[in-house]
Amino acid sequence: MLNIRNFAIIAHVDHGKSTLADRMLEITGTVSKREMQNQILDSNPIERERGITIKLAPVRMIYKILNTKSEILNKSQIPNPKTQNNLGFRNSLVNENHLEFANSEYILNLIDTPGHVDFSYEVNRSLAACEGAILLVDATQGIQAQTLAHYHHAQKLGLTVIPVINKIDIATADVAGTKKQMAEILGFDSPLLISAKTGMGVQDLLENIIKRIPAPNEAEGEVGPVRALIFNSNFDVHLGVIAWVRVVDGQIRTGDKLFLLGTKSPATALEVGVFSPAKTPTGKLSSGEVGYVVTNLRDISQIQTGDTLCNDLTATPLPGYQPLKPVVFVSFYPTDGGEINAFRTALSKLRLQDSSFTYTPEFSPALGNGFRLGLLGLLHADIVQERLEREFGLNLIAAAPSVSYQILLTNHELITINQPAGLPDPSSIKEIREPIIHASLFLPQSYLGAVMQLSQDHRGTLIDMSYLGNLVQLRYSLPLAELIRGFHDQLKSVSQGFATLDYELAGYLAADLVKLDILIASDKVDALSQIVPRSQSPYLARGLVERLKDLIPRTQFEIAIQAAIGGTVLARADVKAFRKDVIAKLSGGDQTRKDKLLKKQKKGKSRMKRFGKVDLPQEAFLSILKV
Ligand code: GTP
Repeated sequence: MLNIRNFAIIAHVDHGKSTLADRMLEITGTVSKREMQNQILDSNPIERERGITIKLAPVRMIYKILNTKSEILNKSQIPNPKTQNNLGFRNSLVNENHLEFANSEYILNLIDTPGHVDFSYEVNRSLAACEGAILLVDATQGIQAQTLAHYHHAQKLGLTVIPVINKIDIATADVAGTKKQMAEILGFDSPLLISAKTGMGVQDLLENIIKRIPAPNEAEGEVGPVRALIFNSNFDVHLGVIAWVRVVDGQIRTGDKLFLLGTKSPATALEVGVFSPAKTPTGKLSSGEVGYVVTNLRDISQIQTGDTLCNDLTATPLPGYQPLKPVVFVSFYPTDGGEINAFRTALSKLRLQDSSFTYTPEFSPALGNGFRLGLLGLLHADIVQERLEREFGLNLIAAAPSVSYQILLTNHELITINQPAGLPDPSSIKEIREPIIHASLFLPQSYLGAVMQLSQDHRGTLIDMSYLGNLVQLRYSLPLAELIRGFHDQLKSVSQGFATLDYELAGYLAADLVKLDILIASDKVDALSQIVPRSQSPYLARGLVERLKDLIPRTQFEIAIQAAIGGTVLARADVKAFRKDVIAKLSGGDQTRKDKLLKKQKKGKSRMKRFGKVDLPQEAFLSILKV
């Protein structure tokens, strides 16, 4: 166990985690140069195309330190854990064994993690399975909101943090400035300098991981009770449910009879192995090791992230994780109503691979049958829609995202709704409560005024503010609905891309909110309703009808678009009658050309949902958040 190092790479989005992982795989010979594809751990095609990591992927590498004499830390250079806890020497194992580095082989278990805030739960899972973390900061960007958020989390878990500055090969890299920031803001005085792209400094980093990150500290002994932390799982059509584990006590061998402590489900270890990076059977996994167990389960809902895999139902559960809660809800409707069964099947299949979303059937009088999905954020919503369409051939219309609201009724009952159309009659409502986030904004001082104005316009309340070098950290209490209304995009635009955001849910607060309905040709389109602050409703109503007027295609009839609260119409705009006859201009005989044009027109319509005599294009649904 002394030669195992379990670590994660934590960083703000795009600071180079996956690229660094690629270089490590190459240097350790885990993947040969020829096999090397960029960002090899991002195996999902959507992750590759977008260049983002969604699912964490653990990988085991073997590394041998050959010539270490000069590099071994001298005992006097090893910082005192109490005075130097930023360097995080959290136990004495490293100190005592520093002479053993020479000519030893080490098992390095790297867990690559996603950077986007939607997926921060994945980061927390992986950190819980590690003793150390590499904190990667892009030298062209400096410290950003998620750098701080992940760092604080790693610190809370008592992990050893190795500070690293990346992208030093870029001409505009500000290494001195980034170093200064890391010292001033995080208290690190000697970060390592690397280029994940060229590989410069990466070997030195690997050796630092071995020297500075402690070996797993679990109880010795490979027989006796087994406890393993499940930090992720997936479903394989041939193998069934696979648990991704970090063994904490004992040893799991192929054939072992096991239990899932949370659900009390019995399981059998049909196959046990490690990721290197493909699944490689090893026959056993011992305490301190990270790998996978094929569980003989067929139902992914029996396995929960954070649960304990053990061989004794009376074992004490390992500290688990918070259950995942969706924060954003989006209804999806197939453009062709006949596809609803295919949609249901697709959702159940996708859930086998991504258990982080929920779905419930939904019926909209305007749009017919569909499903309402609960998701982790807007990026997650986007990715799930893309997977449903690409992998299952569906064509979906997405209604505007909304958050969930708590409604206190006049009879003192508290109910939760996650779509505006579900709001009860106003006469029975005592109070509407909306979800609130605590947002941490990180920006250069020069944008302070613009960002504070923006936050205020989005109903934010300043909690506190601190100056960190020439940067400012602002903490705001902000309605989650404002984040959906484009707060993040506007933040990027008012700060020219320099301000970054991290947030966590903080609870529900009462607010003066009303339901704004949209009527098209006098009929209410429930999927276009939204819950908005009463004070902003006249302005939003006007903006909305104007926007919809431009998005709804003209027909032979004039179409009235109205925005109303209850029976009161606040704004109205009309789509003028018009007939677009695409073939009128063509003279006579050229049938293929005519067919082509008609086909083109049909395709243009495929992202529309017929409502009475009106075609509503996809953009109409999303436009309600863009006023
Ligand atoms: P997420 O997975 O989305 O969180 O991003 P990430 O942190 O994994 O970043 P990724 O490795 O995808 O790198 C982001 C971009 O920076 C890519 O275009 C990389 O090629 C580039 N990049 C990463 N490291 C370096 C480096 O050292 N030098 C240069 N020049 N480019 C780099």
